[in-house]
Amino acid sequence: MRILIVGTGGMAGYHAGRYKSIPGVELVGGVDVRAEQLATFAEKHGIPNTFASVEEAIAWGQFDAASNVTPDRFHCSTTLPLLAAGKHVLCEKPLATNAADAFKMVEAAAQAGVVNAVNLSYRGIASMHKAAELVREGAIGEVRFFEASYLQAWANHPERWSPAELWRLSTAHGSKGALGDLGVHIIDFATHVAALPVSDVSCRFAVHNKVPGNKHGEYVLDANDSATMQLKLANGALGTISATRVATGHGNDLRLKIYGTKGALEVLSIEDKVLRAHLEPDGKWQTIECPLVPENYLRFVSAIRGEDALRAPDFARGAEVQKVLDAAEKSAAEEGRTLSV
Ligand SMILES: NC(=O)c1ccc[n+]([C@@H]2O[C@H](COP(=O)([O-])OP(=O)(O)OC[C@H]3O[C@@H](n4cnc5c(N)ncnc54)[C@H](O)[C@@H]3O)[C@@H](O)[C@H]2O)c1
Repeated sequence: MRILIVGTGGMAGYHAGRYKSIPGVELVGGVDVRAEQLATFAEKHGIPNTFASVEEAIAWGQFDAASNVTPDRFHCSTTLPLLAAGKHVLCEKPLATNAADAFKMVEAAAQAGVVNAVNLSYRGIASMHKAAELVREGAIGEVRFFEASYLQAWANHPERWSPAELWRLSTAHGSKGALGDLGVHIIDFATHVAALPVSDVSCRFAVHNKVPGNKHGEYVLDANDSATMQLKLANGALGTISATRVATGHGNDLRLKIYGTKGALEVLSIEDKVLRAHLEPDGKWQTIECPLVPENYLRFVSAIRGEDALRAPDFARGAEVQKVLDAAEKSAAEEGRTLSV
């Protein structure tokens, strides 16, 4: 299987490494608007063909599937031509920067009849997968409440920022801040485990002065550093979700505690192979060892091969989460008014 990597920045290196580890998969091309970055990346990963645009790569055409690792605001515009050309696409998260674009991508993928996946990467956490299975089996009864958070600290450390990642702090460069970057993961994390859609949300943001004037060259650092949300699920369950880049002491932690009428579960991404559970008949907290599950890259490849294997979240799921993100963003602009999703 021949893979094209679109966008060859920070995260693309991880994609390249994961694809290279899958037997029968070959990285045949790379696309980037930054020629130097593209050349370095191609050399490092042994990629023989490079292109300055998706259109150029499509004109060449000798690939089966693409991994879209461009910044958020380019996901839609770079994915649509790939789909129109009949290529399978795994797109980074968030699927788009608004639900209208996300649904355009869903429709285009359906029309093309190709495999489509959104890289909600924490689906690869064994304990999260096990928690989702237990909830579906009824092990905790009806979901009533949850607390979820995604904690990072890098916004507190301007001395460590690389110029390439400044777009992540700036709304003019397509960033939706901690909400878009981390919220997308933790909303999926919590609601996938709960197995329930979100009915309404209220959200508040904080933006801090991280450098003098909160400006770095051409970048105004106005994207939210923290977002807190209250969500109601379709069955009336209530939950809180926090996403922040200013949680000192936390590199990259996702946490979920979910409570049902018969039991409760606790998932910690930093201890990804064990799940803490409070289940009947014991009625006390215990730990459950969780079997490893494949990451989205392998799930995507398996789906293209038509194998009977675990599926990656698809564009429809990406769009469903995007609807929650859009409502949360609107709510934050109205100081936390509760809005239907
Ligand atoms: N799933 C995860 O856990 C995870 C982790 C990190 C980043 N990401 C996502 O990956 C994406 C990329 O993030 P990053 O940190 O690698 O960003 P980055 O800025 O380091 O890299 C993006 C690359 O895309 C290139 N690019 C921009 N426009 C392009 C276009 N039209 N066509 C081709 N290339 C283009 C840029 O020149 C850059 O080299 C983002 O959507 C981000 O949210 C996901």
